Amino acid sequence: MFSTTLKGRQSLGSRPLLIIVFFLGYFGDVSCQRFVDKGGYLLWNADRNILDRAEDRLEFSFRYCNNKGLLIYQQGEGGNYFALGVTEGRLYIEASIDNRVLEVFIGESTQDVVLKNQTHEVIITGLRALDSGMRITINGTEYPPQLLTVVSVQLSFSSPAMRGQTLVGGYKNIFDLRLNTQRLKAYPIACIFYIRTGEGDNLGPVSLTSADESLGVSDTCDVCPQPSTVSMTTLTSYIEMQIDKTPTTSTVINFKFRTKASNGLLLYFGGPAYLAVYLRNGALVLRLNTKGSGVDAVRESTRAAPFNDGEWQEITIRRENNVATMYSLAGDVLARVEFVGESSDTAHVLNAETLFIGGVADPRGLPSDMRTSFRGCVDDLRFSVQEDSLLPYEFQRQNIRFRDIEFSCMSNQTCRSYPCRLGRGEACDVGVCECAEGYRTTNTDPLTCENIDECAELDPCQNGATCTDLIADYNCSCTDPYKGKNCTVDRNCYYFPCANGGSCLELDTASRNESGRNCSCAHGFTADDCSVRDYCADNPCGVGVCNNYLFGYNCTCPDDPDEIVKDRQNCGPLAVSSPIQISPAALIIVLFGVAILMVVLIVFLAFRRSYLKRKREALLDYPKSRVYEESRENVVEYGEEGYGEEDQDTFDVNVIQSAGDTLKHRKRFPVLSPEDAVEVADFINSRLSDANVDTNAGARDQKMSFAVEGRGTPATSLSSLNSSSTEERQSYDYLQRWGPRFSRLSDMFNDGESDSD
Ligand SMILES: *[C@@H]1O[C@H](CO)[C@@H](O)[C@H](O)[C@H]1NC(C)=O
Ligand SMILES: *[C@@H]1O[C@H](CO)[C@@H](O)[C@H](O)[C@H]1NC(C)=O
Ligand SMILES: *[C@@H]1O[C@H](CO)[C@@H](O)[C@H](O)[C@H]1NC(C)=O
Ligand SMILES: *[C@@H]1O[C@H](CO)[C@@H](O)[C@H](O)[C@H]1NC(C)=O
Ligand SMILES: *[C@@H]1O[C@H](CO)[C@@H](O)[C@H](O)[C@H]1NC(C)=O
Repeated sequence: MFSTTLKGRQSLGSRPLLIIVFFLGYFGDVSCQRFVDKGGYLLWNADRNILDRAEDRLEFSFRYCNNKGLLIYQQGEGGNYFALGVTEGRLYIEASIDNRVLEVFIGESTQDVVLKNQTHEVIITGLRALDSGMRITINGTEYPPQLLTVVSVQLSFSSPAMRGQTLVGGYKNIFDLRLNTQRLKAYPIACIFYIRTGEGDNLGPVSLTSADESLGVSDTCDVCPQPSTVSMTTLTSYIEMQIDKTPTTSTVINFKFRTKASNGLLLYFGGPAYLAVYLRNGALVLRLNTKGSGVDAVRESTRAAPFNDGEWQEITIRRENNVATMYSLAGDVLARVEFVGESSDTAHVLNAETLFIGGVADPRGLPSDMRTSFRGCVDDLRFSVQEDSLLPYEFQRQNIRFRDIEFSCMSNQTCRSYPCRLGRGEACDVGVCECAEGYRTTNTDPLTCENIDECAELDPCQNGATCTDLIADYNCSCTDPYKGKNCTVDRNCYYFPCANGGSCLELDTASRNESGRNCSCAHGFTADDCSVRDYCADNPCGVGVCNNYLFGYNCTCPDDPDEIVKDRQNCGPLAVSSPIQISPAALIIVLFGVAILMVVLIVFLAFRRSYLKRKREALLDYPKSRVYEESRENVVEYGEEGYGEEDQDTFDVNVIQSAGDTLKHRKRFPVLSPEDAVEVADFINSRLSDANVDTNAGARDQKMSFAVEGRGTPATSLSSLNSSSTEERQSYDYLQRWGPRFSRLSDMFNDGESDSD
């Protein structure tokens, strides 16, 4: 009887166990062990379903050599399957019954349970009730199942739904698996030591089929083998391997690589006809020509992410006749090409016997994008010309020819064999030279760093500036009036110069801006642009506050802050900034001086007193009116000639006296306002002209009247007082011209003059 149940949790365990024991797999060989390499597997047909007896209990022991993969896989009818394997450091079970999928991790996600290169012994009970009744022990420790799906599944491995092949340690073709997730999709490398199934204590070991080297299975399984790694270190590196002289219709190649180089030939299999894989700008290119002539079939990988990210990339290339397909590790198709040649109907064998890895010995004649060697690491190469097996190639043990390689991966090593030439501080990093800032690899050589000429690259200097290349930078020498990194900004000092000889400090601004410069003004000037004279520069107000105006200044004085005055004399007493310090000796001298002054003063007063007394006694005889009546008259000074204004300076004593009285009480002289001043001037001028033209004004003591006269007049003085004193020689000859009657008179005068000489 076979049955498969699929129901809710509440009904779990209610069914009776039906156990069918297949004795065919029940041999007594407990120490039976197999090493199953990548691409290899152990297979049972439907009649020998090893899981039939595992409904109650399944025990197995294994050692794992890579990161993930399938250990046990049973494929039932339709889409039903059961899969158990390793992923993310944990055991993982995935099953599908009638399109309902169950996913179960075993162990905590925070801690790896299944460690690489270590032996694990696993006991699973209640395997049939995957979601609830199952208990798992690994190396004696029990781990809880962690369900990712909520579907409850109970399965019987002997039911028709689960009847089918059982695979152990791998599978024939990753593309035949029906897995719903990617978690177990990988070729595992594992040792299987034993598998036991049964109920209770009634356990029997499952016989692992005999080792078949052609299927990648061997019966020696001591340790995980070291991967076969090789590094390609130059632009002409290569490994050459002789493969098979037999023409084949199919090729399978699997390998891992890691690099940061964006270009390079990874694989070349063939002679004139060939299959090739290479990197072009970070993408993988698949190229096929099964005839050796005609147009190659070329296709670039569809994956958006570049393959030269420095991480391990694993790819598989499968060729059948004229069609080649490139797969990712998870089985996704990266590229597919079909070589058509003259006719697509013609199936070609690939008549190739040489496999080149990383480059070829002589790249001449290859398409140009295949001529550069790959730089980086290649690992885990597997090759087959048959359907079934992917044989590993251990480079060091193969009879290979090579150039510029190392049998290790240079992951984080610096470039011992990489000639990263020139430049500064560059390091090699899986296939490329990492250049210092301002340097980059040349177009022709990714292993040489050269200085980047930013001037040529960017042409950054504007407005006629000259550019100088620097390391990772450039320098523009600007022409006037520009400044800035690229000479694109107007200089503020040019457009807003400082006036009156002020010096200009250019500030860093993004555009022309008057506040983008500072002026240091020459002495006596102020304002942002030094255009204002600074009348206060010499501190004319002393302790007062100087107010600077466009055409002058005035002072605000501390003793009279409400009044605005012109200069410091009017700012009142200067404030004493500190009390006077005086020494005792100086004090004595000062006091002595004061005492002498007092004595002199007393003596003077005494003399004066006696003098006044004597004088008073002498004056007692004088008439009182002559002595004490103060003589007050107008003082008039007349010019000799007359009545003109400028000849007479008259001072009215009364006026002077009253003015003096007024001055005593005034603080300051009145200042005429300019308007008032104009009126007074007009008045005076008007009176002056009246006087000048007044013909009625008679002379006081003279008949002559002069319109204008005085010191300013061109007429000379007529005063006899002055003329009598002149020694001027006079000529009386003109009297002769008056007639004979006057000649005698002329002679008399002239003789008189001559006599007096
Ligand atoms: C696995 O472990 C053994 C020792 O137990 C060691 O010799 C071997 O190199 C290891 N293999 C790997 C791939 O680490
Ligand atoms: C100068 O020019 C370079 C190149 O054209 C540009 O990238 C940069 O932003 C410019 N810098 C300034 C400050 O304008
Ligand atoms: C850039 O050029 C200016 C003007 O020619 C010069 O004064 C300056 O020193 C240069 N700077 C560098 C780093 O060369
Ligand atoms: C320019 O002048 C302003 C205003 O006086 C001042 O705040 C600033 O510090 C000055 N800048 C420089 C660089 O002298
Ligand atoms: C003096 O200051 C006062 C008050 O600010 C002002 O009204 C006056 O115009 C100033 N005089 C001069 C000559 O600057």
